[in-house]
Amino acid sequence: MKKKNSVFIATSIDGYISDKNGGIDWLYSIPNPAHIDMGYAAFIQGIDALVMGRKTFETVLGFEVDWPYEKPVFVLSNTLKAIPASHKGKAFLLKGSLREILTQLHAKGLFSLYIDGGSTIRGFLKEDLIDEMILTSIPVLLGGGASLFTALPHQLEFELIGSNTYLDQITQHHYRRKR
Ligand SMILES: NC(=O)c1ccc[n+]([C@@H]2O[C@H](COP(=O)([O-])OP(=O)(O)OC[C@H]3O[C@@H](n4cnc5c(N)ncnc54)[C@H](OP(=O)(O)O)[C@@H]3O)[C@@H](O)[C@H]2O)c1
Repeated sequence: MKKKNSVFIATSIDGYISDKNGGIDWLYSIPNPAHIDMGYAAFIQGIDALVMGRKTFETVLGFEVDWPYEKPVFVLSNTLKAIPASHKGKAFLLKGSLREILTQLHAKGLFSLYIDGGSTIRGFLKEDLIDEMILTSIPVLLGGGASLFTALPHQLEFELIGSNTYLDQITQHHYRRKR
């Protein structure tokens, strides 16, 4: 089974994943009456598990909707003591180095991983552990907030393997790490 760590995330034109107040309402600023999913369902079908930062996990819990994932979610945290009882069996706490975490997941037969959360994605990129990125760009300049990317120890080259435009407004680029 091929090991693959993937990112599927939306940013503003200026590269933020949340606004100055930590909000993500702007993600839904383009009317989408037919609720097109922009490739999300096909993407999520192809993964074995999610690896999510604690802050994104808490954001999802705060939505107060039914748990949106059918695949297991591994939450990275050094501070969270336990997964809330309501989500036991659906989400699991992990800590350790990213390579140790990946070894643990691969040993469970989970090879295709969706990496989510800004700081979490940056941690994986710093160790050159991201194999593909599907980046969706919402046409807004937020002018501040949480950036998706930061400095890296060295340049990482990707190749573009596909692009889509949705709702005549939203662009999506699918990049694969050149190795
Ligand atoms: N635009 C989008 O599509 C999109 C998608 C996802 C999230 N978001 C937004 O992004 C924000 C969350 O991103 P974020 O950058 O703040 O945080 P994040 O990556 O979701 O969570 C960061 C936390 O994850 C834990 N963590 C990360 N790497 C770890 C490691 N190697 N070992 C142990 N723990 C680790 C730490 O938790 P502890 O502090 O507990 O140790 C860290 O503080 C939210 O506002 C969310 O709404 C936007």
